[in-house]
Amino acid sequence: MGLLDEIHRRRTFGIVSHPDAGKTTLTEKLLLFGGAIQEAGAVKSNKIKKGATSDFMEIERQRGISVATSVMGFEYKGRQINILDTPGHQDFAEDTYRTLTAVDSAIVVVDVAKGVETQTEKLVQVCRMRATPIMVFVNKMDREGRDAFDVLDEIESKLGLRLCPLSWPIGIGKQFQGVYNLWEKKLELYVGSNKQKVQDSIAFDDLTDPALEGLIGQSAAVALREELELVQGVYPQFNQAAYLQGDICPVFFGSALNNFGVRELLDCFVEIAPTPLPKAAEERLVLPEETKFSGFVFKIHANIDPNHRSRIAFVKVVSGTFQRNTNYLHVREGKSLKFSSPTTFLASKRSVIEEAFPGDIVGLPDTGLFRIGDTLTEGEKLHYIGIPSFSPEHFRFINNADPLKSKQLAKGVDQLMDEGVAQLFTLLVNGRKIIGTVGALQYEVIQYRLEHEYGAKCSYEPFSAYKACWIDSRDPQQLAEFKKLKQRYLAEDKYGKLVFLADSAFSLQMSQEKFDGLTFHLKSEY
Ligand code: G4P
Repeated sequence: MGLLDEIHRRRTFGIVSHPDAGKTTLTEKLLLFGGAIQEAGAVKSNKIKKGATSDFMEIERQRGISVATSVMGFEYKGRQINILDTPGHQDFAEDTYRTLTAVDSAIVVVDVAKGVETQTEKLVQVCRMRATPIMVFVNKMDREGRDAFDVLDEIESKLGLRLCPLSWPIGIGKQFQGVYNLWEKKLELYVGSNKQKVQDSIAFDDLTDPALEGLIGQSAAVALREELELVQGVYPQFNQAAYLQGDICPVFFGSALNNFGVRELLDCFVEIAPTPLPKAAEERLVLPEETKFSGFVFKIHANIDPNHRSRIAFVKVVSGTFQRNTNYLHVREGKSLKFSSPTTFLASKRSVIEEAFPGDIVGLPDTGLFRIGDTLTEGEKLHYIGIPSFSPEHFRFINNADPLKSKQLAKGVDQLMDEGVAQLFTLLVNGRKIIGTVGALQYEVIQYRLEHEYGAKCSYEPFSAYKACWIDSRDPQQLAEFKKLKQRYLAEDKYGKLVFLADSAFSLQMSQEKFDGLTFHLKSEY
């Protein structure tokens, strides 16, 4: 098969949801369809269990397991599907943001009873920044939940998405009988009281046909007709180009647990989801079909084996064919590197591969050479853009607690930041280091890992900040004035970019009003 065929058969996507909405269950059902796993329960180990939040070692252990399920590949209807998994625990949200820069599309899972939750809002914002095509799966239709129109209204208003239902539920909770598949014009009905089994789909083009009453009952048939009429009046017609541009989002309803509505979602997904997309580098736009290999590191996973300081750098192939034992340029380091054991992932199995194509994820054993965002090429000096850091939520000074180990501490902090565990800011006034994280848990993880992997000890001190804002200036004079006024709150990030560690929401607002020649960004790429 040639490069073009390989590209056209690939679909690389991520599943996004608030913890507990059903991401793991849905992933598992998709893998079952693809034959990548044989039984339910196989991907459960990836989930950081509730109640484990205070036990970060357990979380690290589970994260260790999760490397195997970080990327799950399977074949379905001749397509190669790559699911990039994202950690459910919100303290690792930053990992998820970065993973989303490596997907070509996303499926957002929403719990019908809970509706849109905060974590989903943030993740969808990240998708929308890159106009990533999105499909929505409204899950847990077997439970008593809210009216379908209500849920869709909430998704539209909270997530700012324009929806286009491609399936419609028939009843909900105890009354849930199945869905009408608008995409294939079929009825999909449950049978039996346990609602586990699905009848064969029933082709049903004309809903005015009185046979509908016979299949789902008088009142459900009347309600379905009325609701679908409303759907047609309210929501836009499906249009693939609009979906691919991120303008409209197809919606499916179902129950992942009962494996209901999942096949419809997958069948539609393989038809409409984008093939690997071109990616912008600072220098130019790179197309997947270019013959020369290029790719970027979007995730680094450490501690795969607790006995060795082993890490895996996950590289998304953007163009050309990646080959084992071939020299590639590590652009930032200016070094030529060759990989003898690149791995790929098939559900829980990792295996060495000879080659990989655009859309694929390759795992490269890493001894500390890689940093998130690094580019590998066949020689061209490309720098891929679009792996932003977001403002952390927590800030603390980090101090060296063992003066004899300052080198180890510096190295450890440096490598953990390269991995993207947290962000480092250096105050301009006195050079003190501040660690910013998304969740408080990371401080314990850092302390533990510094001690066990680098033999260094650290302590923390509070630093009160509201948000980190990257500053972009159109007015050098205003910038100088601002720097003078706020010098105690100014820092450099790891790459030397100027950051304002705003002490309060009020202070940020006042600064924005007073210094209109500056822009305050809550993320590092703008
Ligand atoms: P997550 O990865 O998004 O965090 O969610 P996960 O799939 O683990 O699902 C969270 C809980 O919701 C699980 O129950 C799961 O069984 C349940 N669930 C998922 N899909 C459905 C559905 O369609 N209907 C119903 N009724 N429940 C669903 P749990 O009790 O937390 O875990 P477990 O003991 O079942 O593993």
